[in-house]
Amino acid sequence: MPDISTRADLEVLLRHFYGRAFADPILEPAFGTLAVIGVDDHLPVMCDFWETVLFRTGTYRGSVAAVHRALHGSHGFTTAHFDRWVELWASSIEELFDGDVAQRATREAASIARAMRRRLLDPTGPQTTGVPSRFS
Ligand code: HEM
Repeated sequence: MPDISTRADLEVLLRHFYGRAFADPILEPAFGTLAVIGVDDHLPVMCDFWETVLFRTGTYRGSVAAVHRALHGSHGFTTAHFDRWVELWASSIEELFDGDVAQRATREAASIARAMRRRLLDPTGPQTTGVPSRFS
C-alpha cells in the first residue's frame, strides 16, 4: 500500500473517513449537518489542516479549538466521541495507506484528539500536551 504523500491522498483519506463517520451511531449526530451539506466545501479546509500538520505547509489558518468548542457546546462530546473518532481515523488510514507519513497521521491525530478532549471535558486539569495550541 502507498504512503500518504500528496493533497490528493489526503482527500481520498478524508472522504473515506467521513463516509464512515456519517454512518457511525456515536458520531453521526455531531456530523449530521456536514453529512447533509456534503463534504465538498469542507474538504479544502481539512486538506489544508492535514497538509499543515504532516507537511508543514502552514496553509491552515483556522482555529480547530474554537470550532470544536462550539460543537461541544451544541452536542456535548464525551470520551466515547473522541475514542470513536480516533478509532475510525486510525482504521481509515490503515485500510488505505502504509508508511512513515501514514503512521504520523495516526499518531498526530491521537495526540490532538487527546489534547482536545482534555481541554473540552476536563478544563481544570493539566493542559500540557506538547501539541501546538492552535491544533487543539
Ligand atoms: C469528538 C470528535 C470530533 C467530532 C465529533 C468532530 C466533528 C467535526 C465537525 C462536525 C466539523 C465541522 C464543523 C463546521 O464546519 O461547522 C469539524 C471540523 C473540523 N475538525 Fe473535527 N471533530 C472531532 C475531532 C477532531 C479531531 C481529533 C481533529 C484533528 C485531529 C479534528 C479536525 C477538524 C478540523 C481541522 C476541522 C475544520 C475546522 C475549521 O473549519 O477550521 N476534529 N469537526
